Amino acid sequence: MCGIIGFTGVKNAAKVLLEGLSELEYRGYDSAGIACFTGDNTITTIKTVGKVASLNACIPPELESSCGIGHTRWATHGGVSKQNAHPHTCGKVTLIHNGIIENYLALRDELSQSGRQPVSQTDSEIAAMLIDSLYQGDALTAIREAAARLTGAYAFCILFSDQPGTIYCIRKGSPLVACHCESGSIIASDMVALLRYSKDYFVLEENHVARMTADGISLCDLYGNPAVPDYQTVTWDTSSAQKNGFKHYMEKEIHEQPEALSRTIMPRLIKYQENDTYYTLPDFAADNIPDTLFRGLSRIIITACGTAMHAGMMGKILFERLLRIPVTVDIASEFRYQNPILDQNTLVITVSQSGETADTLAALRLAKTAGARTLSIVNVKGSSIARESGYVFYTHAGPEIAVASTKAYTSQLAAFYLIAFRAAFANKKFSAQECSLNMERLLSVIPALHKILEAKEYTQEISRHLTKATDLFFIGRSMDYALSCEGSIKLKEISYIHSEAYAAGELKHGTLSLVTADVPVIALATQHDVLSKMISNIKEVRARGAFVILVTVKDAVIEESLYDYRIDLPDSDDWFAVFPAAVVLQLIAYHTSYLRGLDVDQPRNLAKSVTVE
Ligand code: AGP
Repeated sequence: MCGIIGFTGVKNAAKVLLEGLSELEYRGYDSAGIACFTGDNTITTIKTVGKVASLNACIPPELESSCGIGHTRWATHGGVSKQNAHPHTCGKVTLIHNGIIENYLALRDELSQSGRQPVSQTDSEIAAMLIDSLYQGDALTAIREAAARLTGAYAFCILFSDQPGTIYCIRKGSPLVACHCESGSIIASDMVALLRYSKDYFVLEENHVARMTADGISLCDLYGNPAVPDYQTVTWDTSSAQKNGFKHYMEKEIHEQPEALSRTIMPRLIKYQENDTYYTLPDFAADNIPDTLFRGLSRIIITACGTAMHAGMMGKILFERLLRIPVTVDIASEFRYQNPILDQNTLVITVSQSGETADTLAALRLAKTAGARTLSIVNVKGSSIARESGYVFYTHAGPEIAVASTKAYTSQLAAFYLIAFRAAFANKKFSAQECSLNMERLLSVIPALHKILEAKEYTQEISRHLTKATDLFFIGRSMDYALSCEGSIKLKEISYIHSEAYAAGELKHGTLSLVTADVPVIALATQHDVLSKMISNIKEVRARGAFVILVTVKDAVIEESLYDYRIDLPDSDDWFAVFPAAVVLQLIAYHTSYLRGLDVDQPRNLAKSVTVE
């Protein structure tokens, strides 16, 4: 939930850390701080409440350093205050932490008896106290002994005051990626902070210690056995992680969706010959995902959080329609506590943009332990979920920086379509011809997204009518209901307008009492098989005076008196209308947030990557 970075090398460390923290700010932004070895080899710590820009303003221009650590925080233990901001120092130890130390209260009581008193309310400071209490000049021993005492999740970057120029790092559960390059050695929570120095990086293995100096990074396990970094290369460049002329990352990422979808779909297309005909089929040979994964299944469980779970809701509809086996979608934070029924004929699909969401990771681990087959749909390469899953399907959407997920969502949808089609083909539920026809329809989504992005101005006009709303409903049926859930979270997370997604037919069973002239309703009506029923539901809200925004398809005949605004989606088959419809909802959320003068990319109380349970 926090962003951490460490640098030691030939550049100005404060500058490197601040630039890196700006890239990592999406992970948390309530306070920030750095600690650097300065001229006389003492450690100078500067921290502040607020964003990285506030920290920047506190750094004296004369601060010279070539080694330091930096942190941008999303508060968990202890409120938002300068004291609780990182880095934390105890004795010879100064550290930054991402994660949660679950047994910190017991450790605090124990360490207090030896005279060490924390000055903050954080679990992280207790980790600093613990490591300091164990440190007698041998960093590895202190870290090993501390790791044995800490329960929970952590990524630490640690400075020892008597080892200037050196940073020690360890992680368990929380991410850390690193590289050594011409400028020195650098480590961070996410590759985006390394990109301006190198496209090559490695993931620090859990329970391995990295010792970083300007000359290089040495790795070992907790017992000192050396380890070799497994370097990987990112395919995108620094511009992918910048705004490129857009006002916000979210706006840029909305516009990147046609390209992102093409990266998800195109590498998975093959020409398949049957008799004398060639068909276009999805194929996962390059992903090392065999057809046997989809055969002999008794059920599928999809588990994820937030937007990723909403993509899973669409996956359920597709799998059930095509495979005719039961599919459930579980909120990952609930999954473990439901004592789920899992066996080797169950396929558990976890979905995660970051690949680091703690609840989703925990669900995956449970599924593996119970012997279920596991497949993960993940965006970030080398992330924990990707590494631990039996099989991984990378969405290749590119870096997503805005807290509100947009291109990751539509790429996850595309992943579900590809997987469902392949699974149906592998189980002979879809002929090559049917599969190929649907692949063409899926590909036609890419120009449809280009087209719907032209409706930007119109969605802005619609948003003007929403800025004063305090409550709002999204309604839809079947696929449109799954999309309503996504539209609702998008709007509320960045506009702070309370909104709810409702299955349109369910509204009259209680919730309709909340619909008044002051409560706008965004009605999704893209599915022909339920269109007439949907029209009846729109009539119900209209009769209560609701301001109605209708998202539908061109050929839907709907009386003008039933809506205030109508958006017609580009022509597409019913199954695929959710893609352009998703973009419409993203644009409405975006403009509403912007028009309300809010921080679109970094909404209050949230963080991009939720690595705590
Ligand atoms: C998306 O707009 C949200 N910010 C959030 O729901 C997100 O999708 C969720 O936290 C899951 O993240 P993940 O995909 O990285 O696992």
